[in-house]
Amino acid sequence: MIVGVGVDIVEVPRIKDAVSRWKDAFLKRIFTENEIQYSKAKKFACQHLAARFAAKEAVLKAIGDSSIQRIGLSEVEVLNDESGKPFIRLSGEAKKIQKSRGISEIIISMSHTRKFAIANAILIKNVE
Ligand SMILES: CC(C)(COP(=O)(O)OP(=O)(O)OC[C@H]1O[C@@H](n2cnc3c(N)ncnc32)[C@H](O)[C@@H]1OP(=O)(O)O)[C@@H](O)C(=O)NCCC(=O)NCCS
Repeated sequence: MIVGVGVDIVEVPRIKDAVSRWKDAFLKRIFTENEIQYSKAKKFACQHLAARFAAKEAVLKAIGDSSIQRIGLSEVEVLNDESGKPFIRLSGEAKKIQKSRGISEIIISMSHTRKFAIANAILIKNVE
């Protein structure tokens, strides 16, 4: 059963500005090491970072209530399987909230251009 949906759009130049201004401090506050390494290995790193930023916000929106204020963005991690398909791994407070809600799966889809990155998240709960 779908128990939440969330969408977010991010302007890539804003992420680029934040990276050049705050450098590692910005990157490490928002992104995990896996996300930073994945993006840095790509030609247009900021597009991939922006998509991950959008994905994190989309997951928070899908959860949707005041509990999201306790979640740090780095606790919502975007990874890619061998085909490139993204998936979400939660940690810390985000993982606790996932467990307490009985969320069994988080489906994420992302797309990015030079200007914009967008992500859509769907939360699934198993029902008997
Ligand atoms: C996967 C695919 C759909 C991505 O689309 P795209 O227009 O190149 O790029 P987008 O910006 O829309 O999307 C990129 C994101 O798609 C996601 N993605 C990559 N592979 C994916 C897959 N197998 N399944 C779902 N999502 C995937 C990733 O999240 C990626 O972003 P990331 O690298 O930052 O994680 C595309 O590359 C593809 O493989 N299409 C298959 C058909 C094909 O090869 N056509 C070309 C012949 S004309």
